[in-house]
Amino acid sequence: MIKSNYLIIGTGIAGLSLALKASANGSVALVTKRRIFDSSTGKAQGGICCVMDKSDSFESHVQDTLVSGAGLCDSKMVEKMVLEAPNRIKELINLGVKFTRKTNFSSEFDLGLEGGHTKRRILHANDMTGKEIEEVLIKNVKKNSNITVYEECMAIDLILDDNNVCRGAYVFNNKTKSLVIFEATIIVMATGGAGKVYLYTSNPDIATGDGIAMAYRAGANIANMEFVQFHPTCLYNVDAKSFLISEAVRGEGAILKLKNGQQFMEKYDTKKELASRDIVVRAIDTEMKKNGDDCVYLDIRARGRDFIVSRFPNIYSKCLDYGIDIVNNMIPVVPSAHFFCGGIAIDENGRTSVKNLYAIGEAACSGIHGANRLASNSLLEGVVYADRAYKDSLQFTNQKLSSFKLKFLKNVEKNNQSNHPEFMEKWNEIRNLTWNYVGIVRSNRKLLEAREKVKILKKEINDYYDNVLLNVDIIELRNIVCVAEMIIRSALLRKESRGLHFNTDYPFMLSKAKNTIINVISKGE
Ligand code: SIN
Repeated sequence: MIKSNYLIIGTGIAGLSLALKASANGSVALVTKRRIFDSSTGKAQGGICCVMDKSDSFESHVQDTLVSGAGLCDSKMVEKMVLEAPNRIKELINLGVKFTRKTNFSSEFDLGLEGGHTKRRILHANDMTGKEIEEVLIKNVKKNSNITVYEECMAIDLILDDNNVCRGAYVFNNKTKSLVIFEATIIVMATGGAGKVYLYTSNPDIATGDGIAMAYRAGANIANMEFVQFHPTCLYNVDAKSFLISEAVRGEGAILKLKNGQQFMEKYDTKKELASRDIVVRAIDTEMKKNGDDCVYLDIRARGRDFIVSRFPNIYSKCLDYGIDIVNNMIPVVPSAHFFCGGIAIDENGRTSVKNLYAIGEAACSGIHGANRLASNSLLEGVVYADRAYKDSLQFTNQKLSSFKLKFLKNVEKNNQSNHPEFMEKWNEIRNLTWNYVGIVRSNRKLLEAREKVKILKKEINDYYDNVLLNVDIIELRNIVCVAEMIIRSALLRKESRGLHFNTDYPFMLSKAKNTIINVISKGE
């Protein structure tokens, strides 16, 4: 058993930031299922929003967020986040994060533009913002003697005492193939999203919604899981696994085109390429289906070699690796699952409905993103809620908790059992199912069919889980089927189309916006 003041699960921007702050108040166990740098944060290209320019205003950032969120954002939470942004950005800079400046010697930052923003307000480190932030946070975490990092340690389930207070987590150590009990006063889910539930995703392999599934099984309220954001422009290439072409490329003037070079966004929105993501994604989906094409194209050629190579060095060189010189050629792109606006329901301090359990970052649903997240608000949400959760936790770290009995989990033996290949096919079944039945455009018939299919899959997977020795694949499989079920349940509960959720049977938006809240015992769909 490992005891600490804080148990933080996940090492993206939210988990790392909180670990650094919490370390001033006690010991921190920072648990991650792969290596410390395996997170979605490291893949974030675009940047992090903050009002910096004289021509911009907090009101305008709030307004853009609310418009993008299609009436479902919690406006108070949005306002607070936008106002707290400058302090959180200062902290990142003080830790050592280097955002791109206008020129090498300039004191002014080069602010980017992305879809849904009416002003330039995106701080970036060229097109590798997440990597820059992640590297700096990890460097600071590694120097900190109050933080112990446990890599290759995959949380399986939360531990609740008889009063349903969260007391820790059962964790599978993949190096020793053994079960470890982590006990703590404050437990935080910073496990990120679940893009891998879908067939095509911009997310890394680790994004299997583990924290959301664990919290659901522990009885936490889960909100708005139907709002899965598809990124409009993932590179379409058989060899490229989930490589994003940042929205910043459209922000800098790239145009979406069909293979014959024809533009199409003006038919869908006056903001054209810079319309919000839900609109751009549905436009691409419609054009691909109408023309029977496998992809559309993004054309940045007009900006010329010097600009393209200096502003987007990573995208330029990655595309070149796949044989596409973006200086001279259009980039083939398709939409792919990118970000979960829903997740574990939290209050303004990151508290979930389970006592002692916090959730921050993409794993949480804070009310900031509503029905469609504004680009580059997610890294910001990560640092803002890490700060809030830290401040809130200060009142609880000295609480006296009664002793409690651990429940039997399941057999774990020191053996590297691999899964039955037929069983691992279930991965593909789930990912195909979500893509085809609960993807960009939905209908009641498809959702009801998906519900029946996922019920069968869940039973098969849970039976299998009960009968095999623990391993990472089966833990992830059990989580993705749980997340798929939550998405379908939530999508069926929403009798309208709003933001990212589009149902052809209810093509209109209701006048009153309501969150979808589900939990493991609630009835309905
Ligand atoms: C991108 O660079 O396009 C991703 C930014 C985001 O998802 O906020």
